[in-house]
Amino acid sequence: MQVTLSDNSIRLIKWLSVLLIAKVILFVLYGYRDYFPPNFEVPFLLGRQNYFFGSYAWSFYAHLASGPTTLVLGLILLNDRFRGRYPQWHRIMGRIQVAMILLVLVPSGLWMSFYALTGMIAGVGFATSAIATGVCAILGWRAAVRRKFITHRLWMLRCFAILCSAVVIRIIGGLGTVYGWDAPWIYQASAWISWLLPLGLVEVHRNIQWVEPLPQSDS
Ligand code: HEM
Repeated sequence: MQVTLSDNSIRLIKWLSVLLIAKVILFVLYGYRDYFPPNFEVPFLLGRQNYFFGSYAWSFYAHLASGPTTLVLGLILLNDRFRGRYPQWHRIMGRIQVAMILLVLVPSGLWMSFYALTGMIAGVGFATSAIATGVCAILGWRAAVRRKFITHRLWMLRCFAILCSAVVIRIIGGLGTVYGWDAPWIYQASAWISWLLPLGLVEVHRNIQWVEPLPQSDS
């Protein structure tokens, strides 16, 4: 499929997405004031006192540290200019990113999935996204080691798209607050839509040929 968009439009869409992701990261970090120490009156922690210790508390705080970090690292690593200018830093940060995803974010997300709000449908949605993130990170890393850089970029783009589920789910949550959607099925659906939608967009994006329209005349 062929879609005509100018370079400037593509650049604008990219920068708007970066701004949106940055805004959500700041919003998430602002919310941490309710987690240090844990305030069991806020919606996310409501009713979690019974198991908020040991493995859950460890996973929760490991997740709070690794989530925003992997999103910020992902933004930097996907930036072509940064990679071109500082290839050594790209390699170092890439290794940190893969280690953090595989050793901290995925295990903590998986463990927290067992306790997901609204139950099993949302839990399986989060758990599947955790596994998909890990698989993309492993395949992306393997391609880089084998110097297959086009494949590497594609897997890392998919990995980042799934990390952006944290952004999409909060946008859906924000819309829910504005429009008064509070049915449990909306949270269950968003646990799936939040990662399948950005992943789908990556697949659509790579099957479209984005071309700038050719000039129609010399004038
Ligand atoms: C694919 C990767 C991820 C998975 C599988 C995942 C999984 C989860 C799960 C299962 C929960 C608990 C949900 C519930 O109990 O209903 C959660 C909460 C949370 N996640 Fe993630 N997550 C991922 C990525 C991220 C990223 C990239 C961030 C960065 C912003 C993030 C930040 C948080 C925060 C702050 C919470 C606590 C709830 C809140 O304050 O909104 N997660 N995550």
